[in-house]
Amino acid sequence: MAKIGNIDVGDFPLLLAPMEDVSDPPFRALCKEQGADVVYTEFISSEGLIRDAAKSTMKLDIYEKERPVGIQIFGANLESMLQSVEIVEKSGPDIIDINFGCPVKKVVSKGAGAGILKDVDLMVSLTKAMVEHTKLPVTVKTRLGWDHDSIKILEVAEKLQDVGCQAISIHGRTRAQMYKGEADWAPIAEVKNNPRMHIPVFGNGDVDSPEKAMEMRDSYGLDGAMIGRASIGYPWFFREVKHYFKTGEHMAPPTLEERVDAARRHLQMAIDWKGERLGVFETRRHYTNYFKGIPHFKEYRMKMVTSDDSIDVFKAFDEVEKEFAGYEFA
Ligand SMILES: Cc1cc2nc3c(=O)[nH]c(=O)nc-3n(C[C@H](O)[C@H](O)[C@H](O)COP(=O)(O)O)c2cc1C
Repeated sequence: MAKIGNIDVGDFPLLLAPMEDVSDPPFRALCKEQGADVVYTEFISSEGLIRDAAKSTMKLDIYEKERPVGIQIFGANLESMLQSVEIVEKSGPDIIDINFGCPVKKVVSKGAGAGILKDVDLMVSLTKAMVEHTKLPVTVKTRLGWDHDSIKILEVAEKLQDVGCQAISIHGRTRAQMYKGEADWAPIAEVKNNPRMHIPVFGNGDVDSPEKAMEMRDSYGLDGAMIGRASIGYPWFFREVKHYFKTGEHMAPPTLEERVDAARRHLQMAIDWKGERLGVFETRRHYTNYFKGIPHFKEYRMKMVTSDDSIDVFKAFDEVEKEFAGYEFA
C-alpha cells in the first residue's frame, strides 16, 4: 500500500501527470472518475503566483471530487517558492508538488524546472525549506538528470527523501532528451531498490498500454505509475489499466455513447469553470482522441474545433451520437 505522507493512495496507484493546459479541473475530474488515484494540476509559476497573475491563480482551483489532488509549482527563487506555498495552501490541496523536470527553455533558463538538475544542492535546499514551511506533504517530480553524462538520480532521490520529500515521481528521460527516444525505467528501479529509500517511487514516461503499466509494477518493482500523454482525450486509460491488473484481460473500449457523454461533460465543466470562450477553446485539444478511429469524421471534428459557440459544439456531439450510434471501436 503506497502512502504519500498520511494519504493512503492504494496499491500501485495510477497518477495523472501534471500537464500544462491539459490537467485542468474538468479533465482531472474525468480521469478521477475513470480510476486515477492521485491527480496533479499543471505546473504553476511561483513568480506568477506571488504577483497574483490571474492566469496562475486560476490554476489553483480544485474540485472536492478530485481528491487527493496535488498542486504543482515551479521556480528557483527560495522566497518566491515559500510565498507560493502559503498561497497554494489556501486552495486546500492534499499535496504540494515541486516541478524539477520541465525541460522547456523559458523555464530552464531561469534555473527552474529541469534547470535545477544542474544544481543539486539548490534542489535539496529548496525542497527542505518548502517541507519545513508547510504541514502538507511535499512531493517532487523530476527527470533522470540533466543529460546522459550527469545522471545522479540515485543520490538526488536519497537527498530529497532525507529532507522530508514524501514521494518522488521520476520521468525516465534526461532534460537533454526532452521527449525524444524511449523512457528508461532502469535508473528509476535503481532508486526504488536502494535499501535506504522508503518513500514511494513512482515511474513516469511512455506508459501507454496496460501491459506497460504492469511491467512497471512487476518487472521494475515501482510503487505506482504516473500517466501523461496516454490519458489526453482518453481518461478511460486508467480504468483499462485497472481492469487489466484485475483480470489479465483487456477491457472493451468505451462506447460511442460514453465518449459523447464525456465530451459533453468535459465541455460543460470547462465552461462552468472558465467561461464560454476559454471553455470552448481549451477543450478542443481533447476531441480528436475522444473520437479516434471513427471513419469519415473530419466534418464533425471540424465543427467541434472551429465553432466558437458552445451551442454548435454540443450540436456536433448530438449529430455524432446519432450518425455513429452503435459504432464499434477496435
Ligand atoms: C502537453 C504536456 C504538458 C506537460 N506539462 C507538464 C507540467 O506542467 N509539469 C510537469 O511536471 N510535467 C509536464 N509534462 C510532462 C508530463 O508530466 C510527463 O512527465 C511526460 O509527458 C512523460 O509521461 P508520459 O509519457 O506518460 O506522457 C507535460 C507533458 C505534456 C505532453
